[in-house]
Amino acid sequence: MFIDTHCHLDDPKLKDDLIAVVNEFKACGVGRVINIGCDVKSSELVKEQAEQFEEVYFAAGLHPMDIKDLEISAIYDIKGLLDHEKCVAVGEIGLDYYWDKSYSDKQKEFFVAQLELACAAGLPVNLHIRDAMGDACKILRENRDKLRYGGIMHCYSGSIESAKELMKLGLYISFGGSLTFKNARNIKEVAAAVPREYILTETDSPFLAPEPFRGTVNAPKRIPVIAEKLAEIRGEDIGEVETYVYENAKRLFSKLK
Ligand code: NI
Repeated sequence: MFIDTHCHLDDPKLKDDLIAVVNEFKACGVGRVINIGCDVKSSELVKEQAEQFEEVYFAAGLHPMDIKDLEISAIYDIKGLLDHEKCVAVGEIGLDYYWDKSYSDKQKEFFVAQLELACAAGLPVNLHIRDAMGDACKILRENRDKLRYGGIMHCYSGSIESAKELMKLGLYISFGGSLTFKNARNIKEVAAAVPREYILTETDSPFLAPEPFRGTVNAPKRIPVIAEKLAEIRGEDIGEVETYVYENAKRLFSKLK
């Protein structure tokens, strides 16, 4: 079966029609999706959605863009969700300097605190890193003892060199719709070079719909389009990609059934 390791079913574009969204992805062979929280409220909502559907699991975490006005004690609200039987990761967490770099120290503080949280809970992390790869790699290197349960680099768009460094830290590289974009030569080179043991697939729904659906509301049903692109770039069969990506996900997310 196919798996979507990063989607946001709590988004207004998807949540009001969730039964249809789930039925559609199941019909496309997508058997498991991981619904990702960005703040306390969305982490609680993705948990509730995971309780409604066998195919849906979730991650709880505080996104770097959502922590600007928070106290560090907010991480205790996330901690309370991690023991849930369907909570498979802490995320999305990380650094994002693209829109606003003015509180980068605070981003780093929340990032490290949530790496600790994940390690203590025995969970992998789902990482969102944008325009901050240097700082992120430094923090990950310094905290490699907290990466004991692994992690995912979500929607990877960095260089091959950074990918190698991340894999050395035991992190998986996740590919999404941007792999299908015409100007995405860099990501395609990375996708061709990464060993299959480190590859995962995601949609980041409702964002980043793959070609030829670019600009529409994305949903987990588009995972086969991304797997097909991976297969084409790597000279593999789509069935092969489907099988090894799911094996990788099972290895990383120990609660996945
Ligand atoms: Ni996301």
